[in-house]
Amino acid sequence: MSSPAVAIHLTDAELRLLQTLVYQECGMYFDARRSHFLRDRVLRRLRESRMDTFYSYYQLLISAEGRQELHNLVENLTVNETSFFRNKAQLDLFHKQILEEIITKKQDRRDYQIRIWSAGCSTGQEPYTIAMLIADALAYHQLRRPILGETTWPKPLVPAPWSVEIPASDISYSVLRVGQEGIYNEHQMASVDYNYRLRYFDKVGERYALKKAIKELVHFDFHNLKTEFLPRSNDVIFCRNVMMYFDEAEQRRLIEKFYRCLSPGGYLLVGHAESLLGLTDKFTMIFRNSGTAYKRTEVSQ
Ligand SMILES: C[S@@+](CC[C@H](N)C(=O)[O-])C[C@H]1O[C@@H](n2cnc3c(N)ncnc32)[C@H](O)[C@@H]1O
Repeated sequence: MSSPAVAIHLTDAELRLLQTLVYQECGMYFDARRSHFLRDRVLRRLRESRMDTFYSYYQLLISAEGRQELHNLVENLTVNETSFFRNKAQLDLFHKQILEEIITKKQDRRDYQIRIWSAGCSTGQEPYTIAMLIADALAYHQLRRPILGETTWPKPLVPAPWSVEIPASDISYSVLRVGQEGIYNEHQMASVDYNYRLRYFDKVGERYALKKAIKELVHFDFHNLKTEFLPRSNDVIFCRNVMMYFDEAEQRRLIEKFYRCLSPGGYLLVGHAESLLGLTDKFTMIFRNSGTAYKRTEVSQ
């Protein structure tokens, strides 16, 4: 190791080695269009870890001691753009049709547990949006089909006997920490209307903090979608704007895993620019007012 000021040049072959390593680690695929981004971030990590040759940095990455640096590199390669109530048409389909169907069917069979996984949750806006929509849907459903029992006051966010669990996972610890904190600035709150701000947030100085009852529905955890150890028995999986960074082979593998992680008849929601078309025959596309979702197809016995 020597001075970090040494200018390092990465050859195309070296870049390809890194491309393969990153792909094997997390599924993100840096094709020719995105290779400048990979190059830029690798050089930044090289400088920050005070390495002066590509060879020494690569040796570190593939060593057991280099696991932390490989993780740092992957964190630096993730795109974490997100917002509350992203893709309104799809959320409308989720709220008005999918949740309605799930709640009604569950109530009929006296199963009062709802579990919705936000896979690739970034800084938390997606899982908290899901939590607010479920709270609204359950309150509305309770009005129309009340479950008789003792009514407590103040009314809980999730009416008894329902229980709601929203696992929220990401490969980046830094975004998970922001999600866990659950405090957002005015800019991040731009897509949250006053109705939602008043009911689900407290103003803390210039920022907005999610109320405890909503926060408690969401559980942040590290999960690498490249692995097999993923949350199971979900009624719905949101994996939006994540698959677009994977190549087709990795997308197919991920869709298979999602199929296994969904309960029978469960739904998978992907991003606006993503599609399952041509990648699987295990899901049926649902379309409503520009919103799309994919329903797990059940094989009849
Ligand atoms: C563009 S954000 C999408 C956030 C949110 N789903 C949305 O649509 O607003 C993509 C997120 O996927 C995460 N991600 C990328 N590869 C991943 C992997 N292999 N496992 C888990 N998360 C991953 C990134 O860290 C990033 O936070």
